[in-house]
Amino acid sequence: MAAYEYETHEYDVVVVGAGGAGLRATLGMAEQGLRTACVTKVFPTRSHTVAAQGGIAASLGNMGPDSWQWHMYDTVKGSDWLGDTDAMEYLAREAPKAVYELEHYGVPFSRTEEGKIYQRPFGGHTTEYGEGPPVQRTCAAADRTGHAILHTLYGQSLKQKAEFFIEYFAIDLIMSDDGVCQGVLCWKLDDGTLHLFSAKMTVLATGGYGRAYFSATSAHTCTGDGGGMVARAGLPLQDMEFVQFHPTGIYGAGCLITEGARGEGGFLTNSEGERFMERYAPTYKDLASRDVVSRCMTMEIREGRGVGKDGDHIHLNLSHLPAETLALRLPGISESARIFAGADVTKEPIPVLPTVHYNMGGIPTNYWGEVLAPTADDGDRVSPGLMAVGEAGCASVHGANRLGSNSLIDLVVFGRAAAIRAGEVIDRDAAVPSPNLRSVEAALTRFDGLRHASGQVGTAELRLEMQKTMQDDAAVFRTSETLAQGKDKMEDIATKLSDLSVTDHSLIWNSDLMETLELANLMPNAVATVVAAEARKESRGAHAHEDFPNRDDENWRKHSLTWFKGDEQKASLSYRGVHLNPLTSHNDGGIDLKKIAPKARVY
Ligand code: FUM
Repeated sequence: MAAYEYETHEYDVVVVGAGGAGLRATLGMAEQGLRTACVTKVFPTRSHTVAAQGGIAASLGNMGPDSWQWHMYDTVKGSDWLGDTDAMEYLAREAPKAVYELEHYGVPFSRTEEGKIYQRPFGGHTTEYGEGPPVQRTCAAADRTGHAILHTLYGQSLKQKAEFFIEYFAIDLIMSDDGVCQGVLCWKLDDGTLHLFSAKMTVLATGGYGRAYFSATSAHTCTGDGGGMVARAGLPLQDMEFVQFHPTGIYGAGCLITEGARGEGGFLTNSEGERFMERYAPTYKDLASRDVVSRCMTMEIREGRGVGKDGDHIHLNLSHLPAETLALRLPGISESARIFAGADVTKEPIPVLPTVHYNMGGIPTNYWGEVLAPTADDGDRVSPGLMAVGEAGCASVHGANRLGSNSLIDLVVFGRAAAIRAGEVIDRDAAVPSPNLRSVEAALTRFDGLRHASGQVGTAELRLEMQKTMQDDAAVFRTSETLAQGKDKMEDIATKLSDLSVTDHSLIWNSDLMETLELANLMPNAVATVVAAEARKESRGAHAHEDFPNRDDENWRKHSLTWFKGDEQKASLSYRGVHLNPLTSHNDGGIDLKKIAPKARVY
């Protein structure tokens, strides 16, 4: 192996990733005076949060009655009773505080006539514990809410003197022999130098792994880098079988058309011009939960009622909405529809199709963002020195299915929680731990091995094989046959990582090597998804198993944990219990547990 030199940096905290969760954590850490570095492979405001459109859920009650208890109920039901009750309460209870903080930091929210934050309806968000009409809970900055939040948080983080290391790619976690995270080794993309960030706390905010699939609303940068590093460090990934398909990706292009479009009054039709959601979800119709709407669209297409010359997609209609509403509330998607579908939304429908959008699973954490390293007798054991937030993490607040606009609020509530917790557990006077040189050496050896990989398979070729397999065999609907086939194929595809060929061996702006490192991160995420899905013999949330069409709480109300050994791609499974206890008792104003007892999930 070539000898590599690296520069060492010491911080109280290193945050990996500068999307909404990474920036909110960075800001919170820096505000408390913790010496904080944020390492990111793209410029912060290019992180995938910038693409979040419709809004951020919080029970502000600006447009009608609402309460955090109703928000919690909707989240529990949306999760199909797989979310952890403490984490879901924390999310719903802290959400208003987190949104008002954003407002005070300067996020330019849209406004009501009285100057309050504007809120729109979103799927699965209701009043009266699912008995009342849809609620307007989703706070919006037109249809560019993520963009607004990201720019504000980046500016505020700079103001607090957080230090940014931009276009640095995280290679691997540095772990002590007894499992304490000591930081991360990174590659600086523009000059080829290597950097060791030693820290008392490492926070993974690396986003999801949507790019394991062929068609996704996720940016090309969403390659599950945190999950990849964690899997190689011998820690598990949780609930990976639950992959969300957003109902309205633009047909062909995959770009997102926000659920806010249906929140503002848009509706779906089939080839007969029928508003088919009225048949499947008579109460909430087009505003049923996303997994439900995606399945109904797929059924319409399967039964021959899809639109277009191949009958393989659905229409989203907005042309009945006033032109001023489209211009004021939905300017971004009006432009996307024109550019990517050639559709003028004031006159014609947008062709749409369910498209991979979000990973409910990820790195298991408690509701403070501390990563869990469960053992047979302690499912909640904390892995010291390591946190995960945002889509990379799994608190688990979304369980088997996330409600729209619960993602942006997850980013800021749990980014903020991680900062609060870090402020409590980090000893500011202690020395930054000296890095375990064996761990550094192992990371360098892996990096060098990929840099000089001289096998038979090109990175793009193997990536495409993985993406097509995931798209076909771990789809909206799954069967025992497709899942068994997907598992076999993915395990075979993963072995080809050792036969990769990287032709560019340079270290400066080497996109061949970077995409190879990303593929090596995507792979364990993809394998974990099919392995956990194949094992789960029930249907719950986004996991719709045609051979086991019902939810089975007796046997399957539990979190899956998928484990890998080092760099090997063979996965094994174990399970941990769902947290059933809330943080606040009913007598103290908490939710009545009877309200969130499992029942049939209808909209
Ligand atoms: O439809 C949307 O605007 C997406 C929101 C979300 O995924 O939370």
